[in-house]
This record gives sequence, structure tokens and C-alpha cells, in this order.
Amino acid sequence: MFNFSVPYRKIILCIILLSKYSAAFEKHWLPDLEWQTANNWVDGRIPEIDNRVIFPQQTRHAVGVAATDNLRLSGIDLPRQGLLVLSRNGKLQLSDSRTDAKISKWSKEGNFFWADPANWNGSSIAVPHLERVPCRQDDVVLPSVNRTLSVLLPVREVQVKSIRLSNERQPFLEEEWIDFQDRREFSRSRFSVKYAELYLTMHDCSKCFCQGNYMSDYLEEICAIQRPRCGFTGCEYPLTVEGHCCPYCGGRVSTSKQIPLVTVQTAADEALEGYTDKIAWHTRRSWNGGVEILVKEKGDYSGITIQEAVDNLRVMLQKTGIDVTNAETAGAAMKDSRLAVILGPLLGTPLVAIALFLLLFLYFGYSLEHVLSGCMEAVSSVRDGIRVDKQKHGFARFENVPEGNVRIANVPGTSGREADNDNVVKGITQIAGGRFENPLYRSNKRDKTEIRKILDAPLSLATLKSQIDDQLETKEMDTEE
Ligand SMILES: *[C@@H]1O[C@H](CO)[C@@H](O)[C@H](O)[C@H]1NC(C)=O
Ligand SMILES: *[C@@H]1O[C@H](CO)[C@@H](O)[C@H](O)[C@H]1NC(C)=O
Repeated sequence: MFNFSVPYRKIILCIILLSKYSAAFEKHWLPDLEWQTANNWVDGRIPEIDNRVIFPQQTRHAVGVAATDNLRLSGIDLPRQGLLVLSRNGKLQLSDSRTDAKISKWSKEGNFFWADPANWNGSSIAVPHLERVPCRQDDVVLPSVNRTLSVLLPVREVQVKSIRLSNERQPFLEEEWIDFQDRREFSRSRFSVKYAELYLTMHDCSKCFCQGNYMSDYLEEICAIQRPRCGFTGCEYPLTVEGHCCPYCGGRVSTSKQIPLVTVQTAADEALEGYTDKIAWHTRRSWNGGVEILVKEKGDYSGITIQEAVDNLRVMLQKTGIDVTNAETAGAAMKDSRLAVILGPLLGTPLVAIALFLLLFLYFGYSLEHVLSGCMEAVSSVRDGIRVDKQKHGFARFENVPEGNVRIANVPGTSGREADNDNVVKGITQIAGGRFENPLYRSNKRDKTEIRKILDAPLSLATLKSQIDDQLETKEMDTEE
């Protein structure tokens, strides 16, 4: 008798566990920052031997030179801020600078934000932006150990269920994850991604939101990135969807509070089965505790397909005995008016705006000379503004990863070294036909832990030293004042 009931109970338990996990997803971190990826270069070609490589001034992320052995370049224009990650035993050589060297430009620029929905996969287009970045119930998958990772963590603290590398099966233990907090991969003074408490991921998710309570600060962080990409709203009455940063052109069916999420999800999956090619849908717990199904068309919003799907869904749910409280769509499709399409991008460019202003001033009777001298003043003050900004934030970091065995030889007795006793890696870069000191490796008295120096503009390694010396002099004078 008991022999029967025990396995039976186990099966029940499994089903319950499975159903609770059904709202959890694996979310993969997508950005690829490898040197060897052709798409990361402006012309779609990996730099060849003796090319000159240029990084954008605001690279701000780490570039994995890693898997390349015996890389020889005629020059590198370093970014004002960013990291080059060299592999253990990898070698980066600089040949004599050549004026005819072919130029390869790194195509990516700026930080890669944890809070950017575009950096994660694992969810459909029907999902609101907040839920496209990892939720508390989600398992996060970071690229394999061979790949370069560079993440700017969110300002606001967020929780996830687990984190693993894509080449590993087991996620990190919580202690292991916490050990990552000092690593360069995650740039933010606060290590803001935490493991969710076990009971939060295990207990019944009837009130289980993507990130704790409504997390409005975090949502604002996501939307600050996402909103500029919203583009044209292709429907008459866009819906406002919780956690979504743009007007939502799609449909929504809402049900009452008492129904478990899984029940609605199963019914919705069944009802919309035939629409997989045309629409995506997402079942979620809304902030007031009810359950809603969001539907969105793959491709442009037409209105008709959504209307049909929403009607179908409503009827099916009601047949299943689920109480539907609301069913709505975003109305008719709107066409992007041609004039706006043509003028939009044009109006966005500052040049056209300036020209329009110029015309306006002329129209109101200012003389051309008058207007132009005003403009010059504005331009020069803008440039001053930028200069000040540069002084404050600009620095380039060409980093010798301490654990990597990088071929930057440590030759004693070279001139220009300052006596120092910290563990900053100092070095000489080997170049064909000579050696020069890489001034970035001299320790900075004001900043013992970070190898960073203030630079004015992107430079080639060869001209780095003199520029830095100049900079430091000015800097010191500034401090004395
Ligand atoms: C997400 O991306 C990873 C790696 O790029 C891939 O293996 C996985 O299948 C993707 N998942 C989905 C749901 O698209
Ligand atoms: C990393 O790369 C090396 C060689 O490039 C390869 O032998 C190794 O299997 C890779 N490891 C993983 C985990 O992908």
C-alpha cells in the first residue's frame, strides 16, 4: 500500500515544482566583444597583420584580444576609456609605424548595460521591457569562460535566481558569485546583482513580480536606455503596459485575481496555438495581482490579426471557465506619414536645426555678421565645456591583466621609472626594432590601485609618453593652484 503512495506523491511534487518554474526563463547575455568577430569591425573584416587599429574614443568596454596569438599591428589608437584583454601567453607586437598601414576601426562604442533589454535573449517581443532583462525567477547565463565579458551593472539592486557560465552546467554558488564583485568584468562601484533568497524563488508565485515590488527606479533605468528606440507608434490607441517603456501596439486580455498564472498560461497557449507564425504572446502577473495575456504581432502592427487573436483568446478562456475581465486591442494600424519619415531624421541633425535658426534670425532682421559672431561665441563656449569635461573624466586604460602572462617585458634599469612599491605592473612593450616604455604602467601617486592616466585624445602608443608627461605637468599645476 505505502509502496504505491510514495512514488505517487513524488510525481505530484514534481508536477507542482515544474508548474512553479514555468514562469522562469534562462536569459543569455548576448554582447560579443571578441577581436575575432568580423562584425565588431567597421568594414566587417578582422584586422590583418600590420594594420593600424583604431578604437572609438568612448569605447568604455573591454575588448577581447584574447584568442589571437602573435598579433602584430603598426599602431593602436587607444580609447579614452576602455580595456584591452590580452590572453595568457598572448603577444601583441607593434611594428614600425607606417603611414600606408590599412586602418581597422572597432565598431562598438559605449557601455554594455545589464539593464539593456537588447543585451539579453530568452523572451519574445510580446514581453514588456522590464521582463526582458533578468527577473528574480530567472537563471542568468553569461558567455563561456573563453569570451570577454564587460557589463555595467544596474544602479538599483536587482535579484536573479542563479548565474552560470554557458560552458558550465552548474550555476555559481552564492558565495562564488559574491567573489566576483572586485572583478573588472563588472564595472560599477556597487555590486548590484544578487541572488534572490531561496524562499522567494521556491514559494508560490502568486505575488511574484519580476523584480520585487514595482521597482520603479529600476524600470526608469531600463527605459532611459530603451525609450529612445521606441520609434513610430503604428497604432491608433496604443496600450499602456506595465514595465514597458514604449506605447504598446498589440492586444491584452485580463483575467480576475483568483486564477493561478499557470492555468491561464496553459489555456492561452492552447487558444493561440495556430497563430505561432504571426503573433507572440506573454502571460504575466499584473501589478494588481490579476493575470493578463499580452499579444503582439511579429512584424508591423496590422490590427486585424491582433483583433482576431484577442477575440479567439477571450472566447477560449471563457469556455475554460476563466473569468475574463477585459479584452482590448490598440485599434487600427497607423501609417507612418511620408513627410515625417523624410523630415524626421533631417530635423534631428543639428546642422539643419542651426540652418533653420539662422534663417529665423535673418528673417527677424539681424544682420548676417551679427548672427555669425553670436554663433562663433556659442561654438567656442561649447568647446570650452567639452574641454573641461575631458579634464574631469577622460582617461585611457591600456591594461595588463595581472593574472595574464602578457608579453610586456619587465626590464630593470630603464630610464624614466619612478620608484614605487605597489604591485602595479610596469612594463616595456616590445616592438620590432626597439623598445619603449609604456608610460601607462608607471604608477600614479594619486591613484595606487588603478593604472590610469589622463589623456587628451586618442593616441598611438608611440606618441603616448610625451603627451602624458605634458598632461601630468598641467594636472600638477592645476592641483597647485
Ligand atoms: C539565447 O542565446 C544563446 C547563446 O547565444 C542560445 O544558445 C540560446 O538558444 C538562445 N535562447 C533563445 C531562447 O533564443
Ligand atoms: C577555450 O578555448 C580553448 C582554445 O581556444 C579551447 O581548447 C577550450 O576548449 C575552450 N574552452 C571552453 C570552455 O570553451
